[in-house]
Amino acid sequence: MHWHHIGTVDWQPNNMCVVEAGGKKLTLARRDGALFAFAYKCPHASGIMADGVLDGAGNVVCPVHRYRFSLANGRNTSGEGYYIKTYSVEERVDGIYVGWEEKGLFGWL
Ligand code: FES
Repeated sequence: MHWHHIGTVDWQPNNMCVVEAGGKKLTLARRDGALFAFAYKCPHASGIMADGVLDGAGNVVCPVHRYRFSLANGRNTSGEGYYIKTYSVEERVDGIYVGWEEKGLFGWL
């Protein structure tokens, strides 16, 4: 796992924000003290996920067509068959980190 330092963030009123780390644009969300990281755009038609809302069941709701995705695992809980990429996220003493496996051309070796 390769971790990328984000630091502190400016949360929007909907408890989400957009961050950049390791050349990727990502969405961060916070719910009940837990942090979640997932793709910047919706896998359906590229809605900006940080402009959506968090529902009471632990999903992020896309602002465009209202498809729902589990914050915990990216599953499309409204049933359309999509999946949003999720990332590991940790809050440490020096700020927030997001992480993912780096896979190079020969990463399978
Ligand atoms: S663009 Fe997100 S549900 Fe259609």
